Amino acid sequence: MQPAARVRNPLHAIAWWQHDLRHMMSARVRETRLGFRKTWYLGALTLGCFTIQIATGLLLMLYYHPSIPQAYADMKDLEFVVSSGGMLRSLHRWSAHAMVFLVFVHMAKVFYRRAYQAPRELNWMVGVSLLLTTLMLSYTGYLLPWDQLSYWGTTVGASIMSSVPFLGAKLRFYLLGGHTVNANALLRFYVLHTMVFPLVIISLVAVHFWRLHKDGGMFELDEAGKPIIPHDVPEQENPLLGAENEKTLSYRELLFREIIAIEALAVVLFSVALIWKAPLEELASPLHTPNPAKAPWYFTGLQELLHYFPPFVAGIILPGLIVSGLFIIPFVPFFDIVTTADMCSWVRGKSARTITMASILIVLSALLIRIHAWDAMLPLWIIVATLCLTSRAVGPQNRFGNWVRSRSLSFWIMTLFLMEAVVLTSVGTLFRGPSWSWIWPWRG
Ligand code: HEM
Repeated sequence: MQPAARVRNPLHAIAWWQHDLRHMMSARVRETRLGFRKTWYLGALTLGCFTIQIATGLLLMLYYHPSIPQAYADMKDLEFVVSSGGMLRSLHRWSAHAMVFLVFVHMAKVFYRRAYQAPRELNWMVGVSLLLTTLMLSYTGYLLPWDQLSYWGTTVGASIMSSVPFLGAKLRFYLLGGHTVNANALLRFYVLHTMVFPLVIISLVAVHFWRLHKDGGMFELDEAGKPIIPHDVPEQENPLLGAENEKTLSYRELLFREIIAIEALAVVLFSVALIWKAPLEELASPLHTPNPAKAPWYFTGLQELLHYFPPFVAGIILPGLIVSGLFIIPFVPFFDIVTTADMCSWVRGKSARTITMASILIVLSALLIRIHAWDAMLPLWIIVATLCLTSRAVGPQNRFGNWVRSRSLSFWIMTLFLMEAVVLTSVGTLFRGPSWSWIWPWRG
């Protein structure tokens, strides 16, 4: 079809879009590659959450005014006056939390399938940008109810930003439109939350899907462990397509399954919203600081780090290292090539290995004990204990040991990062009370 014809005839344009849409995924694939196990449909579920947020967010906008104290009054109206208003607000809130959670799990799943490797480097980087934008989308929405929780959560988040050397105070000033969280901040967060970040996510998702198709659909390794790029092989030899009778229209089959998964997720989120109302505390009061003032849960891990390290290290150096690490993973094959077995072979002899491992563990533990970071030590100990226990018995019958020995360095780095994220976030959210002291959540 000629582009000129598309412009002149609207029917041609629709046909062309349909053609493009169908080819966002590889047109035909093996039935086995459409299975739930490959991706757990996590990308589609994340998109499902985003769609629910757009739909509920548009309806919420009909009742919401980004001004003080009207914003809070609108929340009360939604709860007590507007028909199904409370339900709408809860659905919006829980789907936002679900999106943040799913985007992390999707990233982890993609990583462990090694789907960030060539030719998917660009798509991985688009994905990392989506992760950061999703966090910002959620964070800017947090302030809008203008209650104590949102006011102080945003204040804590914004104060992390001030720790950037030289630029921190300026960045915070531009974000808030002043030195404190005030009416300007509410308006800025409203514009960012309802316009800027949704548009950025829509554009990035479009590029994400376009690359997904261009890179040959879902990632698969061949027998030699190399990624298969369908465009590089003639169709009859393409291992992803299989025999003629195995071919399935991915457009029809995969889309159908993903829509069912999104519908199931929608049912779950509806049920959660019916049972648990989104929290709404007192009207925000800059004079009454709650103790503890907690950031939204996806930032409590950072807050926990701030408890141990100076703000510059916890707020800038560590997150900066993590984000740059995520962006550059696909370009440093060294971390993928080196396996646990290779690392063991660098130090010859079992006792030498034990001494090396013990020394590293003692140094790191001493450092963490010195700053009382007991919880941050847990993942480190679990990983080292796994390595010590499994590296001893080597042999064909020791399947778990062999699996551990074949894991790459990047696998261990990501596993440590994810375990630290889970532990620090759980501790920051559930086990911290007044003045950030340790509490047992079941004791109230
Ligand atoms: C709003 C956020 C996101 C949406 C809506 C989204 C959507 C999707 C969808 C629908 C797929 C197809 C496979 C599936 O259903 O799981 C996919 C694949 C992929 N995503 Fe995402 N994604 C998002 C965020 C991310 C993030 C944070 C990363 C990584 C940092 C990422 C990296 C990838 C990669 C590399 C693939 C290709 C996987 C393969 O070839 O098997 N995505 N994404």
